[in-house]
Amino acid sequence: MSILLLCALLLSGCGSTKDNNAAETNSETASVETVSVTAAAESEVTEMPVSEQETVVTVPEINEDFTTGNGCAKGRGKALASVCDDEFASDGKALKIYHRIESWNGADFDAEAFRGNTIDVTGSFRSAASAVRVSIQYSVYGSACYVGVFTVNTSEDKYSSGSGSFAIPANAEKIVLYIESDSLDDIYCDSFSVKVSGDYRYLPEAQELVFVDTSSYPSLKELYRDDFLMGVATTNDMLDTEDYCGLIKAQFNSMTLGNSFKPDSLLDRGATLADLDKYMECPAIKFNNVKKELDFAKENGMTVRGHTLVWHSQTPDWIFYKDYDPNGELADRELMLKRMENYIAAVVTWADENYPGLVSCWDVVNEAADDGGGMRKSLWYQTVGEDYVQRAFEYARKHAPEGTKLFYNDYNSYQTKKQKDIIDMITPIIADGNIDGMGMQSHLNTDVSVSLYMAALKRYAELGLEIHVTELDIGVKRADGWKETQGEYFRKFMEELLKAERNGVNVTSVTVWGLNDCLSWKAADLPLLFDDDLSRKPAFDGVVQAAEDVNAA
Ligand code: G3I
Repeated sequence: MSILLLCALLLSGCGSTKDNNAAETNSETASVETVSVTAAAESEVTEMPVSEQETVVTVPEINEDFTTGNGCAKGRGKALASVCDDEFASDGKALKIYHRIESWNGADFDAEAFRGNTIDVTGSFRSAASAVRVSIQYSVYGSACYVGVFTVNTSEDKYSSGSGSFAIPANAEKIVLYIESDSLDDIYCDSFSVKVSGDYRYLPEAQELVFVDTSSYPSLKELYRDDFLMGVATTNDMLDTEDYCGLIKAQFNSMTLGNSFKPDSLLDRGATLADLDKYMECPAIKFNNVKKELDFAKENGMTVRGHTLVWHSQTPDWIFYKDYDPNGELADRELMLKRMENYIAAVVTWADENYPGLVSCWDVVNEAADDGGGMRKSLWYQTVGEDYVQRAFEYARKHAPEGTKLFYNDYNSYQTKKQKDIIDMITPIIADGNIDGMGMQSHLNTDVSVSLYMAALKRYAELGLEIHVTELDIGVKRADGWKETQGEYFRKFMEELLKAERNGVNVTSVTVWGLNDCLSWKAADLPLLFDDDLSRKPAFDGVVQAAEDVNAA
């Protein structure tokens, strides 16, 4: 087997590789360490004369302390990024990221040169925001994905560091690492570094992804037809790829718009600011982002879970301020209740008028319970007060068409302490008759106890609630046999869920949070049913087997 070896120079850079001629770089090679790397496009180079195969590339690295300028950092979206003096920074300088209008506005670092490599990323941040996230964006076949690499809990006057690793798919394009946070506060970055883990793989172009034929796969929606709906989270981009559409149609009868129905996708800041009087009691809303996915669901006879009306994340801060000015005062309770009611009414009414009967349920409130106990002190909590969840359900019941099911949705909702907090929070709403169901997000991993999960599920059901598993994905550590370990977990999980349902627990829908691993928000944990090329994983086989076994018993 012929393997092309490239000579790589270890040089600090901006995440970009340089193609050099070996002879021209002699003086540099004398002072730097060299390594050999394997070219990935092996088949394309075997015919090349040896002399043409000797290419020198720089192993990309990002290593910024911002003492001499921005380095590779650029503002993302409307945000600006520039170096400033900062007494808290280790060397007196930091990158200031400001003028953030949306939560995803932050700072970008081009990461194209790391394609096909595992990277180790570290960063040090401070901010009035409670947490800063480093994420990676890339596209596979035109579908953009946004994957969290690590999150750092932050405070305003002290730097906190974090790190994470991520294996960038070889077929990824438009690869960018970025810094973001849920609130719009300025972010200060003292240092940011990205290093290749292991040998560097030089992939100047994205490798072609050839999808496998999925037409012979058993259909999950058929296998589970008598028990519950089988759903998938989608994005707008995905629906441009025929192979994705084919698999979605064959496997699922329910869809959740993974991002498009969220407040940051619907709210129109420009229109709102242009006519403050008109929009004072409800910001302007545009629905162009949701139509493609809703049309797809409608054309293919699927139902839609509406996700989500009231949430702390992917909800721009400006809606919480008087005159929508984040530099001004927070709006008072009365005004925020009006905005909340008008927003809920506008969204559920638009869905009903334009796609009658399509959106069968809404996640009215998402993630209101705090990880540390009690309620999350979000801007909804701060402006309206602790009854904001109850009010949201009241408004949703008032304005949603009859028969639309109303859900509370949260992660880690199987954990004993969090479950107690959630139940405390929703008990008055159950008493009001304004809630129909509990959405257990179910971002799990193979260490989570299935019996603990099922006990929690039954406890919610005992409150008279319908149960939806709303965002199922099951992360696994990359170790020998990881695919089988994950497959067995999926099998066991689905088998227990089916048994519970057949024993009278009212589980009516199970949704996986994405189609294939490379498009998952947790791509690093390979948590879904299909490989990047849509090959069925043991995870898929486990879900199939659970239904077959329970049906045969
Ligand atoms: O929205 C902007 C888009 O307008 C802009 O063009 C683009 C710039 O390149 O950035 C986009 O923002 C990204 C957004 O996804 C896409 O809408 C954000 O940076 C990114 O952080 C965001 O990630 C989403 C995440 O929620 C945010 O919390 C994931 O795709 C989405 O799958 C995930 O879903 C959540 C559920 O709603 C609730 N439960 C947890 C689950 C996972 O976090």
